[in-house]
Amino acid sequence: MKSIYENEMKLEFISKSNNEAFARISVAAFASQLDPTIEELSDIKTAVSEAVTNAIVHGYEEKEGIVKLVCKLIGNLVIIEISDTGKGIENIEIAKTPLYTSKPNLERSGMGFTIMENFMDEMKVESIVGIGTKVTMKKMIKKDEIEENAISEVLNQNSNIN
Ligand SMILES: Nc1ncnc2c1ncn2[C@@H]1O[C@H](COP(=O)(O)OP(=O)(O)OP(=O)(O)O)[C@@H](O)[C@H]1O
Ligand SMILES: [Mg+2]
Repeated sequence: MKSIYENEMKLEFISKSNNEAFARISVAAFASQLDPTIEELSDIKTAVSEAVTNAIVHGYEEKEGIVKLVCKLIGNLVIIEISDTGKGIENIEIAKTPLYTSKPNLERSGMGFTIMENFMDEMKVESIVGIGTKVTMKKMIKKDEIEENAISEVLNQNSNIN
């Protein structure tokens, strides 16, 4: 049996807003190994951008800190972890509510977590006040193709039996 494809990269950068584009482009370049569609790539970039912006704006509140990013590829699955050792989130459920923002004065729309949830297949937030926050996101690349292949495999097996 063919062994499963695995790869991993790690990035650390200081919490400067310029690094948001760096993080987004780096993850996109790395995930390109799985040959994603333009739409899949754009979803991943948007989700990374939201999570990194949150670490910079809310986690460190514009003070200097380190944002860590880990990206793993396992088979056709992209797993992205973005973490900070900043302020932390008191109530994760409230923070995830669409339109909730703790910084309405900064013209934040409170849609970051909702965007991450919608653009990725899975999104998990772990946070401890005063310790930091970690967001883990997963997205399956070429889901349609995999499903189509699985369906045609089943159909082939059935036609062999008949
Ligand atoms: N890394 C983080 N550290 C501390 N608090 C966070 C972090 N990420 C999110 N939050 C909290 O969760 C809230 C919701 O985040 P979300 O990204 O959904 O909205 P927003 O950042 O306020 O607005 P938008 O993303 O639309 O600009 C934030 O207002 C903030 O209070
Ligand atoms: Mg946000």
